[in-house]
Amino acid sequence: MEWLAKSKGCNICHGPESTGSKDKVPIGPAWKDIAKKYKGQKNAADRLTRTVVTGSEPGSGGRHWKDQARGVAMPSNTIAISEADASKLVRWILASDKQDANNRAQ
Ligand code: HEC
Repeated sequence: MEWLAKSKGCNICHGPESTGSKDKVPIGPAWKDIAKKYKGQKNAADRLTRTVVTGSEPGSGGRHWKDQARGVAMPSNTIAISEADASKLVRWILASDKQDANNRAQ
């Protein structure tokens, strides 16, 4: 699934691991931090899929990472990714805190 994230440009702004400092994060939050934040939340996958497709501007999900990421919104990814692929990626992201290095390399 990592190849999908790369091919869709997600990795320009997101990395797999937290860098431990909001000044060092690329632009968006790390996959593992997203997984931690939404762990156990009902409908998280569906809500995040919408956010990935439409962006996190106010009105389409809002900004949730003001203090942990660079404090900017995620632009809409509609052009880059289909809703089906976004949903697949979100489910992979939400499971990323359980994956070991082997799984992540796939
Ligand atoms: C231009 C930079 C950029 C790109 C490209 C990008 N993101 Fe993001 N993403 C962000 C930022 C910034 C945030 C934090 C926004 C916020 O505060 O809610 C974010 C947040 C998220 C979140 C959490 C949203 C929430 O409501 O908590 C998910 C999931 C996510 N991105 C997935 C993706 C996926 C999948 C892709 C590829 C299709 C992608 N992103 C591409 C910058 C980007």
